[in-house]
Amino acid sequence: MTQHQRLLIIDFGSQVTQLIARRLRELNVYCEIHPYQNVTDAFLKDFNPQAIIFSGGPDSVTRPGSPRPPALAFDMGVPILGICYGQQVMMQELGGLVESGHGTAEFGRAFVTPSDAQLSLLDGWFAEGREQVWMSHGDHVSKIAPGFHVYGTSPGAPFAITADPARRFYAVQFHPEVHHTPRGAKLYENFVREAGFTGDWTMASYREEAIRKIREQVGDKKVICGLSGGVDSSVAAVLIHEAIGDNLTCVFVDHGLLRLNEAEEVVTMFRDNYNIPLIHADESDLFIGALEGVSDPEVKRKTIGKLFIDVFQKYANQIEGAEFLAQGTLYPDVIESVSFSGGPSVTIKSHHNVGGLPEKMGLKLVEPLRELFKDEVRALGRELGLPAKFIGRHPFPGPGLAIRCPGEITREKLEILRRADAVFIDQIRKHGLYDEIWQAFVAILPVRTVGVMGDGRTYDFACALRAVTSVDGMTADYYPFTHEFLGETATRIINEVKGINRCTYDITSKPPGTIEWE
Ligand code: XMP
Repeated sequence: MTQHQRLLIIDFGSQVTQLIARRLRELNVYCEIHPYQNVTDAFLKDFNPQAIIFSGGPDSVTRPGSPRPPALAFDMGVPILGICYGQQVMMQELGGLVESGHGTAEFGRAFVTPSDAQLSLLDGWFAEGREQVWMSHGDHVSKIAPGFHVYGTSPGAPFAITADPARRFYAVQFHPEVHHTPRGAKLYENFVREAGFTGDWTMASYREEAIRKIREQVGDKKVICGLSGGVDSSVAAVLIHEAIGDNLTCVFVDHGLLRLNEAEEVVTMFRDNYNIPLIHADESDLFIGALEGVSDPEVKRKTIGKLFIDVFQKYANQIEGAEFLAQGTLYPDVIESVSFSGGPSVTIKSHHNVGGLPEKMGLKLVEPLRELFKDEVRALGRELGLPAKFIGRHPFPGPGLAIRCPGEITREKLEILRRADAVFIDQIRKHGLYDEIWQAFVAILPVRTVGVMGDGRTYDFACALRAVTSVDGMTADYYPFTHEFLGETATRIINEVKGINRCTYDITSKPPGTIEWE
């Protein structure tokens, strides 16, 4: 168990609960999100939080059977912050009243003005007499609980900010964690200061603690780590190597669908620079062979995913005595969020992952990044001395270039795609845009078009450039390159890459498009 001061977020199912955790981690405060169903009295005692936050949620506290926090939460003597549904549930439980609708629903931007600014939670807030906040509520508090006072109001929420300072219970109707409450982070800062957090969650301390935990878990046993060349598995590998040295062996499956020089870069970095035992499984012939004649995106994905597991298993079996499998699982993958719909969601794409591997191979899991968000993994990577250029790399999908080559895959197309992609990325780096973009790549299109170069006719492939901004890959917008940049890039690709004579720019957002073409 972690040694840090701990804050508990009780999740009532808001879409933005993860953002609360983000804001707190930015303040170097360690927190965990747990669905309200799991937060029993026993859990609370064991977790021993120094403060608690109640998240928002889609239900109505006026509905019988709607979610509630355990009563013990109010008796632990620790500060509590209730947000939106969290505010309402706090009022209801402590003797106030919540009502539905009646014209006081508020969705979107609103302004809160102070009623009484003498509250530690509001230190440095209301700098300009009012603050913009993001509201999203149908119900509203119509009577506050005994002991509470009002500290801020908005047109639709007369009790926008309430508190019982003696018990250090705070309740806000709006969402301070979202971008549209521009100074919301300040409220979290004040809240954790009030709760006595010292900001002891740093990457240097995390690194030490993670190394200690890996040693404890693994002892002198052997660990296998599947390396994809991406940031997560690389950081996990370097961290584990620091903990257990050469008892770690990495397996890098080269499926022949990587970018220009990517395999060499990964091998050089791990084997030569870090001296980490590495098996470079060059299985490109196997994968490309299996993909011959396949043009359906789902068949491609499933073929690659299945082969990957077979190949990984084959190489892993060569490592004698291995008992553990390391994975770069991140915190967003493990948060058990509250699902009210309960129904399975539609599969848009079969993601390539190695989920079933550990059971199949009888291995135990080592997941040293389970508590981290993506940007924290990057910070840990920097702490471990991984090159900045490597850490800042755009995400790359498991099925690789296969899903950037709509239609049938051939070696010729892959080679053309690699070279075009390298020119595009080179352009982006030269113009200093790489870090502003979530992902950028080229897709080679399954059409040939007619062109004229010099005095001759060409009949070559068309390609599409794709570059998007995004926070988490769930939604995305196309990057607004200048016309000059796009023109220069198209000219370079067509001049430098034999086999392409036409270049388009994909300006589809997600939704309705997806980031990758397949
Ligand atoms: P889409 O295309 O669904 O992609 O908008 C969202 C993000 O996920 C990446 N992606 C994958 N990553 N295995 C992965 O590890 C996959 O099968 C896969 N498919 C898409 C994609 O590059 C983007 O960052």
